[in-house]
Amino acid sequence: MRKKLLVDERGKKYLLKKDVERFGNDLGVVDLKDVKEGSVLKSHKGHNFYLLEPTLYDIVKKMKRRVTTLLPKDIGIILTYCGIADGETVVEAGTGSGALTIYLANAVGKQGKVITYEKRPEFAKVARENLAALKLVRRGQRIIGLEEDTTEEGEEEEDGLYNVIQKIGDVTQGIEERDVDVVVLDLPDPWNVVEHAKKALNKAKGRIAIFVPYIEQAKKSVEALKEHGFMEIRTVECLVRDIEISEKGARPSPRMIGHTGYIVIARVKPEECIKKEEKQDLNGAEGGI
Ligand SMILES: C[S@@+](CC[C@H](N)C(=O)[O-])C[C@H]1O[C@@H](n2cnc3c(N)ncnc32)[C@H](O)[C@@H]1O
Repeated sequence: MRKKLLVDERGKKYLLKKDVERFGNDLGVVDLKDVKEGSVLKSHKGHNFYLLEPTLYDIVKKMKRRVTTLLPKDIGIILTYCGIADGETVVEAGTGSGALTIYLANAVGKQGKVITYEKRPEFAKVARENLAALKLVRRGQRIIGLEEDTTEEGEEEEDGLYNVIQKIGDVTQGIEERDVDVVVLDLPDPWNVVEHAKKALNKAKGRIAIFVPYIEQAKKSVEALKEHGFMEIRTVECLVRDIEISEKGARPSPRMIGHTGYIVIARVKPEECIKKEEKQDLNGAEGGI
């Protein structure tokens, strides 16, 4: 991790570069030189600060963004309902600021891969910075399809995943990859990508997840999924309500995010029928099922 997390005694969080040696706010100044994560520090005004290792959640929350990112609640649904697992290959569009990409890359791990398409170069470059900070791409890693003055590609460090490939492209025009495990779409017209997703997905285990803010978009997406032979189509919305617990009692927080969007999940429906004679041959060879 190239960052460290400082939390003051009110719970206010500061994501700092590893080499920052002093920090100050209205609760005082703390000296961070040679202090290890996992320590309590006293400011010159006598207040406690906690130095911690940041989690992915802390980092994504504070990262640079040019467009709206998916919220963890929706990312959680995508990861779990699609059953995205270690070693899988995921195609994603659009990259945006890379928040979803970060969680996808961590879910598929070192043996897996995330290929992420973005049609706007300026967004892809911001995402590259965010992904590089987490060692998911090398610093300055080439973005396929992007013409830029040669950037210097950083070295891979041992503890990084480096499993993300960025591409510039309009996915409504096609997906180049084949035998993909999961396609994830967070863009305005996903129904225009469904046919390409079908071609890209593995026929035995291919899944698709679509995030859209409007119900009309969800409906059009479901129609396209049905037309192109997907099964187990499910549309959900995820609402998260915090519960406030105090000495007085426990109750739902009066503040909550009312709406972000709908998530449509589906999987590829096998189409080729095995003929009766072939099935018998198979049974013979395998000794029956
Ligand atoms: C809402 S943002 C995605 C945010 C991202 N999921 C995140 O968590 O950071 C949608 C992105 O899709 C891109 N986009 C829209 N249509 C596209 C297309 N046809 N092909 C590739 N990218 C597209 C946009 O430029 C934008 O960056």
